[in-house]
Amino acid sequence: EAAQKQGYDWYMRKEIFEQPRAVADTLLGRLNERGELILDEIRISPETLRRIDKIVIVACGTAFYAGLVAKYAIEHWTRIPCEVEVASEFRYRDPIIDPMTLVVTISQSGETADTLMAIRHAREQGAKVIAICNTNGATIPRESDAVIYTHAGPEIGVASTKGFTTQLVACYLLGLYLAQVRGMKYGDEIAALLRELERMPEAIQGMLDNQQQVLDLAREFVNEPSVLFLGRHVGYPVALEGALKLKELAYIHAEGFAAGELKHGPIALIREDLPVFVVVPPRGRDQLRDKVVSNIAEVRARGAKTIVLAEADDEEARAAAAVFIELPKLSTLLQPVAAIIPLQLFACELATVQGHDVDQPRNLAKSVTVE
Ligand code: G6P
Repeated sequence: EAAQKQGYDWYMRKEIFEQPRAVADTLLGRLNERGELILDEIRISPETLRRIDKIVIVACGTAFYAGLVAKYAIEHWTRIPCEVEVASEFRYRDPIIDPMTLVVTISQSGETADTLMAIRHAREQGAKVIAICNTNGATIPRESDAVIYTHAGPEIGVASTKGFTTQLVACYLLGLYLAQVRGMKYGDEIAALLRELERMPEAIQGMLDNQQQVLDLAREFVNEPSVLFLGRHVGYPVALEGALKLKELAYIHAEGFAAGELKHGPIALIREDLPVFVVVPPRGRDQLRDKVVSNIAEVRARGAKTIVLAEADDEEARAAAAVFIELPKLSTLLQPVAAIIPLQLFACELATVQGHDVDQPRNLAKSVTVE
């Protein structure tokens, strides 16, 4: 087993560090020499994909959070309305789906019962199903119309890490492919995003190279009973996933919030020395980043310890931070792939210093095959 962990203390840590390679493998063979997207595995005809009038993403756990990010990207690039739902809720509310609906399911294992039941239901209504999956030949891809494999390699740690980042990349590829097939007029934008995706392994490596800061932080927070995560736009699902990692591994109260919701309730939780992670979007045409920077000031004014993830040259964000974690320059929609890395490392390290079994957290299973 020690040999399989390749010198790492946990499979999870090994898998965190495999992410540059894993993401490179998700991209492998999917871009041609001209930098264009080829997704031959989508065996649903372009005519059918052009007729789709709604996308529904169903998944569980970490894969559901990847789906939340995908919604922002897919709607922005394709202008097709896209919903995301936890698979266990989907079927039981009699969802409106028909042959014009494309259901996208995300599952690392491809065996999650809730997700499987959701796609069976969707196909009974005539919907087309595309699976994003890491496990060759698993039940979910076998029961789908098409599959995009993430090629992350086996994920053994129960808490998903490289599963998540490769799911994000596969979702981006699907979104850009749909935009391409539907003739969206984003030629240059799509090409630029694809080039940026190709640089993603490097961006992740940069985050991993700076791990020491996060490890120190985990040691400092070892006795914290509660940690909050704030994010906006695609930073919101990053906040949710950062909180989930802490719940799963360190068994402490952790919650992710949409930063804009802070004033509608969660701000009541802020107290002296409460650790609050904030994911700051890149500067863009909208005011998102400015609004998140003022959220940092609001929680800081109430004594919270702000751990701010933002672009290195965001001086205002840096000034509002008790601890500043630099993010590489990326498009807003792609930022989650880099921003989640320190949150994974933080949870892994915190649980390690607490003495927990990081690879096999209590009460959890890698793949839940009962509804
Ligand atoms: C379990 C695991 C989670 C995972 C979820 C979905 O609950 O503990 O880490 O995110 O299942 O798994 P899947 O294999 O469908 O992605």
